[in-house]
Amino acid sequence: MYSQSTVIVGGLAHIPVVIGVFSFIQKFFSKRASNFPQDTVPKKSPVKPVEQKSVPKPPPVAKAETTVVKKKHADVPVNIYRPKTPYEGTVIENYSLLKEGAIGRVNHITFDLKDSDPFLNYIEGQSIGIMPAGEDANGKPHKLRLYSIASTRHGDDFKGNTVSLCVRQLQYEKDGETINGVCSTYLCDIKPGDKVKITGPVGKEMLLPDEEDANIVMLATGTGIAPMRAYLRRMFEATEKEKNKWNFKGKAWLFMGAPKSANLLYEEDLQRYLTDFPDNFKYTKAISREQQNTKGGRMYIQDRVLESANELFNMIEDEKTHIYLCGLKGMEPGIDEAMTKAAAEKGLNWSELRPQLKKAGRWHVETY
Ligand code: FAD
Ligand code: A2P
Repeated sequence: MYSQSTVIVGGLAHIPVVIGVFSFIQKFFSKRASNFPQDTVPKKSPVKPVEQKSVPKPPPVAKAETTVVKKKHADVPVNIYRPKTPYEGTVIENYSLLKEGAIGRVNHITFDLKDSDPFLNYIEGQSIGIMPAGEDANGKPHKLRLYSIASTRHGDDFKGNTVSLCVRQLQYEKDGETINGVCSTYLCDIKPGDKVKITGPVGKEMLLPDEEDANIVMLATGTGIAPMRAYLRRMFEATEKEKNKWNFKGKAWLFMGAPKSANLLYEEDLQRYLTDFPDNFKYTKAISREQQNTKGGRMYIQDRVLESANELFNMIEDEKTHIYLCGLKGMEPGIDEAMTKAAAEKGLNWSELRPQLKKAGRWHVETY
């Protein structure tokens, strides 16, 4: 006969064995789950949007610190359409944004999304993927290229079922030959009525804050204006404001870099916002091939940042200020250098400040 205490001690002795067996089973199954390739995991069908927002994916379980950030953007639509099953959108319009005498080719292109099911909704600051028609040198379909969305979620016609892009045709010389970029040339050449394979939306880096009294500093070169155009329409376009009920009360400051005046993008709209909202909008241009910096070189946005160092850093010291950087990757070192000098003039250390701004979700960069 066993005494009661012997039974208890005997039972306790089995606990490590039981835990071990459970732990093995758990590890075995979680390993199998993580071995599934991304595309064979059943996809969630996104919900049709209410005011254009859906919840296509549950936020992943993550560390406490990152969960807070993820949770904040949990309702942002992502990857409604993927490369294996893109949406075929119809081109509504495709026109040049440049004036006579401009360099290169930059077009504004709008696609109809109304027949997408699930509905391809997006918010300001996101990008979509475009899969150009045709095949690469190896006979494989071309890979997708990303483009920042230049329209608000309500679209250029405010009906909520289009998306617009601002695309520069990539062109460069190689061995005496002009090379045209595959996707940017395809996009600049497409005609109304053409069908285009679209994926996305993607991106949570360039989203606007919810606060109506936030200050938004925008540093853009060329087509980097695309997300900024969407922000500014959200802030200042009358019909858009009626739709979005977002009553922007902060200060928006756009630094825009273009090679020539004729290359300035969406200039008429920006001038109208300046007239209508002089207290809320400031617009500073760096026209590299028409203006010179203090050293006699081409005027870039980082030179304008330096000129405005004091005012800019007064804004940055306000925790309601967000900074957005979009356009040429090559501008990043120049901007960093200018911010370092500008910060130093205020007795601040940019290499310490920048990570703090990033951590606080106030420093947003999308360069390519
Ligand atoms: P490709 O045919 O893919 O050629 C590009 C390749 O050409 C480069 O990888 C490089 O190998 C080579 N190359 C390029 N320049 C030179 C050179 N000078 N000398 C030698 N080789 C060179 N673009 C926009 O126009 N508007 C946008 O709003 C926009 N948003 C973007 C947003 C994101 C998040 C990202 C990542 C990119 C964005 N782009 C945008 C860039 C876009 O995705 C494409 O990279 C661009 O249009 C060029 O693609 P392509 O197919 O025309 O060129
Ligand atoms: P530039 O080409 O005269 O040297 P776009 O995309 O329409 O060409 O405009 C890009 C703008 O950004 C141009 O004015 C271009 O000047 C400018 N730019 C080029 N390189 C840099 C850089 N490293 N930093 C900031 N601006 C740049």
